[in-house]
Amino acid sequence: MNEAKKRIDEIRQKRDISIKTLDFLLSTEDEEVITYLRDSAREAADKIYGKQVFIRGLIEFTNYCKNDCKYCGIRRSNSRADRYRLTEEEILSCCENGYGLGFRTFVLQGGEDMYFTDEKICHLLKSIKEKYPDCALTLSIGEKNKESYQAYFDAGADRYLLRHETADEMHYNRLHPPELSFKNRIRCLYDLKEIGYQTGCGFMVGSPGQTTESIYKDLQFIRQFLPHMAGIGPFIPQKDTPFGKEPAGSLKMTLRLLSIIRLIHPHVLLPATTALGTIHPKGRELGILAGANVVMPNLSPVLVRKKYALYDNKICTGDEAAECRQCMEKRMEAVGYHIVTARGDYI
Ligand code: 5AD
Ligand code: FES
Repeated sequence: MNEAKKRIDEIRQKRDISIKTLDFLLSTEDEEVITYLRDSAREAADKIYGKQVFIRGLIEFTNYCKNDCKYCGIRRSNSRADRYRLTEEEILSCCENGYGLGFRTFVLQGGEDMYFTDEKICHLLKSIKEKYPDCALTLSIGEKNKESYQAYFDAGADRYLLRHETADEMHYNRLHPPELSFKNRIRCLYDLKEIGYQTGCGFMVGSPGQTTESIYKDLQFIRQFLPHMAGIGPFIPQKDTPFGKEPAGSLKMTLRLLSIIRLIHPHVLLPATTALGTIHPKGRELGILAGANVVMPNLSPVLVRKKYALYDNKICTGDEAAECRQCMEKRMEAVGYHIVTARGDYI
């Protein structure tokens, strides 16, 4: 045990982890070690962010996508996906609702939908910023060229989420069709950071073909890139995709990785994701206790919620934004944390 604790302390001090320690921490069944890892991570987060949990309002504004990622329910070849797009008015009304509920960050997420040209996206960003100048705007609309990213930034986007999905090129190619490349994904992330976005990367836990080596590469990528945010959630199969019969990623593995990421990058904004809440009824609370410090309830209109089905059995698809907001407040209080309505920038 002392040996194990020493190894965990070392991750924190060096902000690095060896593949041997990673393998050990992902496979150990020693409850004392698991608890020590979790508490060290939570302590590291508390030191910087205290008992605060930041809240972001997620607006899933289109489920059209030109890509064909093998894990994703809104991939273009899923003919069973019921497609929708929100109008600018509908998106603004989500913001209005969210603003009233105390949200000061809006995350605009969608598939790579060519209908939303740069011009439309910029118009949308400007309209939201004009009405809510005190709010942060996060975009999550996939891979674009640098000029487009710059245009969105100039139009008012503050942050950008683009999970790298896996930092192992072979694994990347197993998860994606040939027209998508790992190199371009990483190029996008560096462009975003260079432009001045608060940038988020991230990966799924337990995606088909993931190994300890690939996770090790993910952690090394995070150490190198030092993202402002990292989105980490379990892979969950979606029945109409090529990975529809693959097993989901596990709760315990996701929690341990959240803790390890908190230790190697203490300042990172780390959400307890909806996917984590989907694989376990207390997944998000456990995520916070493992070192996460962000939650992202859904602000999309209830009528379209079910349609943004990246994976099966997604939670909160029948709840109004106000219900999710209340529910989240209670869940966080129950584990000793409270939601803050500040913009919640990276410290
Ligand atoms: N299970 C879990 N997460 C998924 N995502 C896409 N499909 C799935 C799935 N089946 C994640 C990807 C993407 C983010 C928006 O959602 O990591 O970047
Ligand atoms: Fe669109 Fe996966 S198919 S992001």
